[in-house]
Amino acid sequence: MSDTTHPAGAGGQGGHEGEGATRRDFLYLATAAVGAVGVASVAWPFINSMNPAADTLALAQIDVDLSPVQVGQSITVTWRGKPVFIRRRTDQEIATAEQVNLAELPDPAPDSARVQQPQWLVMVGVCTHLGCVPLGQKPTDPKGDYGGWFCPCHGSHYDTSGRIRRGPAPLNLAVPEYAFLTDTSIRLG
Ligand code: FES
Repeated sequence: MSDTTHPAGAGGQGGHEGEGATRRDFLYLATAAVGAVGVASVAWPFINSMNPAADTLALAQIDVDLSPVQVGQSITVTWRGKPVFIRRRTDQEIATAEQVNLAELPDPAPDSARVQQPQWLVMVGVCTHLGCVPLGQKPTDPKGDYGGWFCPCHGSHYDTSGRIRRGPAPLNLAVPEYAFLTDTSIRLG
């Protein structure tokens, strides 16, 4: 596992820079493709720092194992070239999302219409304003005024259902097409 997280440290034997770079690139791309299909909370930062491999972009469907995700944790996977946020919500987050007065929402939608199982929130992590990736996936990230996600580009606040609550974004974070394969795995697409 550690090999996959230190691409910059691989190779570097000297004297064959061209060959070394090619080999490193290949290994790194192959690793990223696997990382995108599998699941690990650490996968996204490394995928995010590079262009997705062509075969990753082309994947119409990916299966995601949710079993490692604890209550209150989020993971990000790449699907069709976009980040997909998956959060295992706490009871408090679910209750907060369900209790919102829909009349207050810029893009009214009940929480029940955005989840298949209340514990799992699945949505495309792309701000509906100008397409930035909102913060809120990491424990240390700001989550905005509504405890969900915050897009610092122009200050859009999303709640624990991924609904826009304040700021210039016009719409809620999109819910992608997905289905539960088991209690702890989903298929995107
Ligand atoms: S892109 Fe998110 S607030 Fe502008």
